[in-house]
Amino acid sequence: MPGISFDRAAAYYDATRGYGEGSAERIRDAIVAYTGIGQGARVLELGVGTGRIMLPFIRAGYDVTGVDLSQAMMDRLLAQIAGDPGRAGYRVELHQADITALPFGDAAFDLVVAVHVLHLVDDWRAALREARRVLRPGGWLLIGHDSAPGDGRPIGGAAVPEPTLVRSQWLRLREELGVAQPAGRSNMWGSDRRLSDELASLGARVEERTLAAFQRPPITPREMFEHLRERMYSSDWQTSDDVHGELIRRMGAWFDQHIAAPDTPSATAGEFQVLSARWGDPG
Ligand SMILES: C[S@@+](CC[C@H](N)C(=O)[O-])C[C@H]1O[C@@H](n2cnc3c(N)ncnc32)[C@H](O)[C@@H]1O
Repeated sequence: MPGISFDRAAAYYDATRGYGEGSAERIRDAIVAYTGIGQGARVLELGVGTGRIMLPFIRAGYDVTGVDLSQAMMDRLLAQIAGDPGRAGYRVELHQADITALPFGDAAFDLVVAVHVLHLVDDWRAALREARRVLRPGGWLLIGHDSAPGDGRPIGGAAVPEPTLVRSQWLRLREELGVAQPAGRSNMWGSDRRLSDELASLGARVEERTLAAFQRPPITPREMFEHLRERMYSSDWQTSDDVHGELIRRMGAWFDQHIAAPDTPSATAGEFQVLSARWGDPG
């Protein structure tokens, strides 16, 4: 399996994973400041999805190429820019392709970005080799992720917003029921040590950085529970119906006992972090 296509998530992805106002632009500006790329830079995103990361680059006039297994996700990106007054001046090219076998020549890009995609790809090492191949010497590979409380690991405590507590409890219940990461995935999240080790073994200069703060739009605890019930996160797509039903039953009991304000929205904040890799002379 080359990866996990997000076809089924295209309709709701932006509503459930999108950033709050201004966050995506802050991330773009931080990437530009960190890498020093100019307007002429050729930028590639691996697993571009709906353009959560690339839209601000496209709208600022950068030369953007996106690759994704899911045409439906990329169609959402195209729909978002279709009505922009500056559309005619945009430089954007999208390819339905697998990031472990990129349809580009060597050294074709100055910056390659991969955000929340490698954990979906079994042969993530092949994806790293491909990223290196298509980067010009001295170009940048940025493997980015959102680091927010409760993402991917259970947390607790009085200061944690209730929607985050719901997500955390879900992760605990998954552990309790022995729900493993679905087959065909690397189970690698964020700046996993395996990534930096692999990049170093490929001869890269590697660095970890927090680039920008982000906000997510407010959500209520009940809405978060609904997202989980509807399996809106890819980590729940391969759970059997029986186990999913049991997770929902246990979650419902916990929710009724522990959530004080089920319909009160709260926003989450976090940090956009990257693992950067460079090969060769910056030139
Ligand atoms: C979690 S989404 C992230 C999208 C975007 N990078 C973002 O941060 O919003 C992961 C995307 O990677 C795509 N994907 C998964 N495996 C892939 C592969 N092997 N090649 C290309 N795209 C892949 C999915 O279809 C999905 O659109």
